[in-house]
Amino acid sequence: MLQQLKISDLNTNRKDIIVLTGAGQLGMAIARRIGYGKKIFVADWKFENAHAIAKTMQEAGFETIPFKTDISSRKSVAELIEAAQNEGEISMFINAAGVSPSQSSIEQILKVDLYGTALLLEEFGKVIKAGGTGVTISSQSGHRMPALTAEEDRLLATTPTEELLDLEMLQPKNIKDTLHAYQMAKRCNVKRVMAEAVKWGEKGARINSISPGIIITPLALDEINGPRGDFYKNMFAKCPAGRPGTADEVANVAELLLSEKGAFITGADFLIDGGATASYFYGQFQPEKNK
Ligand SMILES: NC(=O)c1ccc[n+]([C@@H]2O[C@H](COP(=O)([O-])OP(=O)(O)OC[C@H]3O[C@@H](n4cnc5c(N)ncnc54)[C@H](O)[C@@H]3O)[C@@H](O)[C@H]2O)c1
Repeated sequence: MLQQLKISDLNTNRKDIIVLTGAGQLGMAIARRIGYGKKIFVADWKFENAHAIAKTMQEAGFETIPFKTDISSRKSVAELIEAAQNEGEISMFINAAGVSPSQSSIEQILKVDLYGTALLLEEFGKVIKAGGTGVTISSQSGHRMPALTAEEDRLLATTPTEELLDLEMLQPKNIKDTLHAYQMAKRCNVKRVMAEAVKWGEKGARINSISPGIIITPLALDEINGPRGDFYKNMFAKCPAGRPGTADEVANVAELLLSEKGAFITGADFLIDGGATASYFYGQFQPEKNK
């Protein structure tokens, strides 16, 4: 039983709280990098995922609390925040929850990846400790999508969370397929982080996003084994790094953003994709060279 491990009994000082949403490989790698000596809520809509990651971390000396949370439900996010605040002040927030184009429907991708992320940024922005930090995982996929108009960007950045899914550009007739839904969601994440950084800044807190390329995790394996598998294999072959990435490499960037070393960075997005996006626009991975 997880409770019998009692790591908390060994740590007597009162701790800051880290909240991690999304108990996947990326989330765990980031939480392990910066979570020592803190109390970490590990939240996921699949409690078995939260429990598994919390247990793995406890067995490595981290103090974790597994929690069931659906990031696309305002009520569920409020319950998570209340539980976390009962334990202490929330000083760090990590969002690595999400669904991918090969795993979900258009509606589900927009609800979780787009609306859910916006909801988290808004709600954690209200409760983050002064001087706290946060990071959310976006995607290289949003960087491959052509630019939107300035007005569309503004709407994605600033429309009240509860009205986001009513935007004309997100209606079914305007979304081609699940990949397009995912790209819109990830573009929205980056724009929301910019707008939210202004509000987080009012309490001296910082929020940033990271846009990873293909990082080997269960979600990425579903993509590589899904309908776009050949596209990704070609991408690895033609990007400067010549391989997919690892969750620990994403944690390197997250550590910078969440720590004091990143004190001058907020409202920013960091692409970490082994050069795949560079190659897509200007190198061997350009669509016209792969026909
Ligand atoms: N792995 C990659 O190659 C890659 C690349 C770019 C972006 N990303 C993004 O990184 C994030 C994490 O992905 P990962 O690769 O670690 O995947 P993962 O599948 O290992 O973890 C994702 C976790 O999110 C949880 N989740 C999904 N919907 C949820 C919801 N509504 N509420 C709470 N939890 C929910 C899942 O149950 C899962 O445990 C996602 O947003 C994904 O889009 C991943």
